[in-house]
Amino acid sequence: MLKNKKILLGITGGIAAYKAVDLAGKLTKMGAEVKTIMTAHACEFVSPITFKSITHQPVITKMFDAEADIEHISLADWADIIVIAPATANIIGKTAYGIADDLLSTTIMAATVPVLFVPAMNVHMYENPIVQENITKLSALGYFFMEPEFGKLACGYDGKGRYPENEEIIFHIATYLKYSKDLSGKNVLITAGASREEIDPMRFITNYSTGKMGLALARAAHIRGAHVKFIHSFISEKIPEYMDSIKTVSAEEMYNSVIQDYKDSDITFMTAAVADFTPANPSKQKIKKSNDLNLELKRTKDILMELGERKTKDQILVGFAAESENIKENALQKIRKKKLNFICANNLNVAGKNDTEILVLGEGIEIKLIGNKFSVAHQIIDIILKSTDKIDKKK
Ligand SMILES: Cc1cc2nc3c(=O)[nH]c(=O)nc-3n(C[C@H](O)[C@H](O)[C@H](O)COP(=O)(O)O)c2cc1C
Repeated sequence: MLKNKKILLGITGGIAAYKAVDLAGKLTKMGAEVKTIMTAHACEFVSPITFKSITHQPVITKMFDAEADIEHISLADWADIIVIAPATANIIGKTAYGIADDLLSTTIMAATVPVLFVPAMNVHMYENPIVQENITKLSALGYFFMEPEFGKLACGYDGKGRYPENEEIIFHIATYLKYSKDLSGKNVLITAGASREEIDPMRFITNYSTGKMGLALARAAHIRGAHVKFIHSFISEKIPEYMDSIKTVSAEEMYNSVIQDYKDSDITFMTAAVADFTPANPSKQKIKKSNDLNLELKRTKDILMELGERKTKDQILVGFAAESENIKENALQKIRKKKLNFICANNLNVAGKNDTEILVLGEGIEIKLIGNKFSVAHQIIDIILKSTDKIDKKK
């Protein structure tokens, strides 16, 4: 995802500066070239030698003893993206007002590449209207921001201001290297995971879905600026804090949540592996051991079919089909029967893996995508955005 990408990491004087060491390490391991600029205050928290040892690249701390003649320009020109992690209230304020009084702030001024700020600070600092106004101003100018997380802060307060997970920062970097906030203003509804149908208080029927593809789509859409509603059952990964998510257990619960949110959705991705059958008479007490047990099953509601029926001309509905045979034929049948705009079909053997192989089918569209689920998620969104005109014209 980041192989051979040139990442300029700016470290400022926040308590979370030590967490950026792990970020630098992860980026380097992924094959990115990472050069680091540290502010004078950042050097109070972590030694430059730590970043140098981890990235095997220069760490620059001063504007006037830099190796290159005009280091702030050469670094700004060298980078594919600049990432300020952690970003203090100070660097955000300086950038918002065009102040360039040290190497990092001057390099940001000279940059034409994407700049991502990862703010981390005390909750009162973060909520200070001046900081918020600066973030709003810079966002409108095209600078990217991640939201800090809630939790116990190093200063002892509980609140919003924590440095986010480095894995999430990496997803943001990978996105902004290539994409912008091209889904801003769009509502995206995504379902994911494996539902559970109760047999008795101890036992249930489920399936092998891990929800990874749905989460990858939710992440990609969120980072590209959409408001994402993530309605999920059981999934194998931690859901990022920034995601507006609802947990459902059974197919019935998922049906109710999805129907409620569907009318506001511009693009809906139904990746959840929802049970087709549920026990007709779930037992309130644990069923006792016996030689045989015949379980009567009844059909659950077909959520996708229902959404297809309710779809308005402005909505886009994308179904997913995991098949073990006749992938294309079965997917084409499903697209017609359920009135979908697109279907993403894959072989069952990719379930649970980080890589996938998906066949995207739509009107006049047949595209095979192979790779990491997050990259594939972005490509699916690209296909949909490109086809939107076509879909609109047809309506
Ligand atoms: C122990 C300590 C922890 C600090 N943590 C933060 C922090 O997490 N976020 C922040 O915005 N400022 C924090 N500050 C304040 C900044 O260090 C201060 O605003 C400084 O001027 C930032 O300089 P820089 O942006 O050039 O690195 C902290 C200061 C101290 C002494």
